[in-house]
Formats: sequence, C-alpha cells, structure tokens
Amino acid sequence: MKVLGIMGSPRIEGNSDILLSQALAGAKEAGADVEKIILDRKHIAGCKDCKKCNKIGVCAIKDDMAEIQEKILDADAIIHSSPVYFWTMTSQMKAYLDRWCVFFDAQWRWQKDYYPKMRSKRIGLITVCGDTNVHTGDPIVHSFKSTVDMTKMQWLGSVMASADDKGDIANNETAMQQAFELGKKAATP
Ligand SMILES: Cc1cc2nc3c(=O)[nH]c(=O)nc-3n(C[C@H](O)[C@H](O)[C@H](O)COP(=O)(O)O)c2cc1C
Repeated sequence: MKVLGIMGSPRIEGNSDILLSQALAGAKEAGADVEKIILDRKHIAGCKDCKKCNKIGVCAIKDDMAEIQEKILDADAIIHSSPVYFWTMTSQMKAYLDRWCVFFDAQWRWQKDYYPKMRSKRIGLITVCGDTNVHTGDPIVHSFKSTVDMTKMQWLGSVMASADDKGDIANNETAMQQAFELGKKAATP
C-alpha cells in the first residue's frame, strides 16, 4: 500500500505541510509506505494545451512532472495539501493538477494504458486558509472533487482548516486529528 503526499505550499514546514505530514503519519500507522513530494522544489511548467498527450499519453513538456507522474501511477492513494491563495489553490498546485491532462484522451477519458492503475485510486485533500471561515477553501475542494467525480476515482474527503502564521496549525488539535484520520483512511482499501 503506497500513499503519496503532494505538498502545494512554498512554505516548507508551514501549515499545509504540517497537516500533510500528520496525514502521512496516519497512513504509516495504518501500514502504508508513504512519500511526500514538495512541489515548490520541482520544476513543473503550466500545461500548454498542445493536445499531444491526448493522443500518445506522454506529455510534450520535459520537466519534473514525468517522475511525479510515475509516482502517481504507482500510488494507491494520493493526499494533496494546499493553502488558499486568492480564494483558490497555489500556482504550484494548479500547475501540477493541470498536468494531469496526460492521463486523459481528447474526450477526458483515461488513456487506455493508465486506466487500470488510475480508476481505483483514492484521492484526499487538505486546505488551509488564513480566513477564520474554513470554507474559503471550497474552490480547491471543488477542483479536486470534480476531477475525482468525473473520472470515478474514490474521494477520501477533505480536511479544511484555518491558520495564518507559519506552524500555527499544530495548535489546532481537531485539524491535526482529522488529518491523521484522513491518512489512515487513505491507507485502508
Ligand atoms: C499570496 C497569498 C494569498 C493568500 N490568499 C488568501 C486568501 O485568499 N484567503 C485566505 O483565507 N488566506 C489567504 N492567504 C493566507 C494563507 O492561506 C495562510 O497564511 C495559510 O496558513 C498558509 O499556509 P501554509 O503555511 O501552508 O503556506 C494567502 C497567503 C498568501 C501568501
């Protein structure tokens, strides 16, 4: 069982990172092998809509997304974590998500080669916003959940939390517990 964590904040050891680590600790306790990818340390260009991948299932852009794509294919579950930036996900997370195009054909169906590995994948999400209303993160949930619904993957649910200063989320016992439980769920078929 492999659980992959995708960290979308440029603030290493910030709130999204802490909650993702907590989720991965939960997954580990449930017996999974875990790995975290920090998107800000990778080179991931934006999708160019060249449509080459729709035909051949290989992205024309040669950057770090190729290795991440392999890890996605290999994982049983993926937990994404992003702070809210201007009412949506960070640019790092958006560039990553747009590059998921490589998995689809021109009709937004899974590429045949990827279908067996992608169809049963479990996807979870963590959002952190500075606003006291955690629903400020709703647009991020909408993006990820809609992707999961469209492709019939399994939605693990989301942990939505509020914190502003770096690391403050560690004092939020409820969010820390919810993230841990999300990780355990990700590791449970
Ligand atoms: C560029 C930028 C834009 C932000 N936009 C919002 C926003 O629209 N709504 C909000 O509630 N918080 C916003 N925030 C605050 C962050 O979501 C908040 O500080 C969060 O805890 C950061 O998480 P991190 O420690 O994982 O980076 C913004 C922060 C930055 C740096």
